[in-house]
Amino acid sequence: MNKQHLMTSMAIKEDEEQSLRPEKLNQYIGQDDIKDMLSIYIQAAKKRHEPLDHMLLYGPPGLGKTTLAQVTANELDVKIKVTSGPTIEKSGDLAALLSSLEPGDVLFIDEIHRLPRFVEEVLYAAMEDFVLDIVIGRDGESRSIRIDLPPFTLIGATTRFGDLSAPLRDRFGVVFRLNYYSNKDLQTICKRTSAVYGNPIDEDAVMSLARRSRGTPRIVNRLFRRVRDFADIMNEGHITETITNEALLKLGIDAHGLDQTDYRYLEAIIDRYQGGPAGLDAIATQIAEEVTTVEDVYEPFLLQEGYIKRTPRGRVATKKAYDILGKPYYEGFLKT
Ligand SMILES: Nc1ncnc2c1ncn2[C@@H]1O[C@H](COP(=O)(O)OP(=O)(O)OP(=O)(O)O)[C@@H](O)[C@H]1O
Ligand SMILES: [Mg+2]
Repeated sequence: MNKQHLMTSMAIKEDEEQSLRPEKLNQYIGQDDIKDMLSIYIQAAKKRHEPLDHMLLYGPPGLGKTTLAQVTANELDVKIKVTSGPTIEKSGDLAALLSSLEPGDVLFIDEIHRLPRFVEEVLYAAMEDFVLDIVIGRDGESRSIRIDLPPFTLIGATTRFGDLSAPLRDRFGVVFRLNYYSNKDLQTICKRTSAVYGNPIDEDAVMSLARRSRGTPRIVNRLFRRVRDFADIMNEGHITETITNEALLKLGIDAHGLDQTDYRYLEAIIDRYQGGPAGLDAIATQIAEEVTTVEDVYEPFLLQEGYIKRTPRGRVATKKAYDILGKPYYEGFLKT
């Protein structure tokens, strides 16, 4: 039975992610400031029978941007259409999406910083005036037609706020930056996940998982799933701290939530660049990772935890980084 359990758990991964997603705002854990404001905006929009203002969500991967967009649509009692920047290749794609909306619906564009420029330009008028200006025909005999759109809410999500063009950014009435989750919030999410899966989990196992999850709900859920595999085989599904630590050790995740790539990153600055400053490109090359992955996934957590500092001349390793690598640190190392 356990084996079958394991196989199904791989096959239904997508559905699982879906079932772990909170549906209403009060199930969405953490991000209290955002929830407070959003709840007011939603109530006001409903009271006025108007669509919610266009909303931009940004922040590191896995913090719940997509989830919050879906929760918002649920709270508004409207449908949500989901798409992403790179999949909209032509302005016609966008036109088709927009004209299929019903009044008040949400259009969610993930990775909105990757929208092609000319698509973005079509979006401006759609956002501002709920109209679509499209050019039909070719060179000599082309003409522009204007189509009215139902009033809608655009929710954009991005991990790279800085890559968004200013005109697009300015057209969002509401901009929220999602922050890393507190340990306490991650524990709550972990317990919720254990209830969804029906795997009992000990309190110290919850703490152990939360501590290593880099402030990120997606990571706490991912680690939970791996640990649960071990618990299903070894302990009839009951997750203890011993099983948790054993599983995480096998996954190469240490007690601080750092993985092999984090260590290679810190080693690169310290060993190759004498603690820095080192440029992002140079570090990425050194550890054979994409620049964007390093910048979006690894650095935010290392910065937040104080292992590195960002200076005008590049990244610098802090004493904490030397300590964790067991390397001697001398005062005055920190060059800025
Ligand atoms: N506030 C929350 N409370 C409970 N669970 C959450 C919360 N936020 C996110 N999650 C869980 O974390 C998972 C990842 O969230 P989500 O996909 O919304 O992140 P994202 O910010 O859109 O990531 P990406 O930038 O990679 O698209 C979700 O499936 C959900 O289970
Ligand atoms: Mg997402």
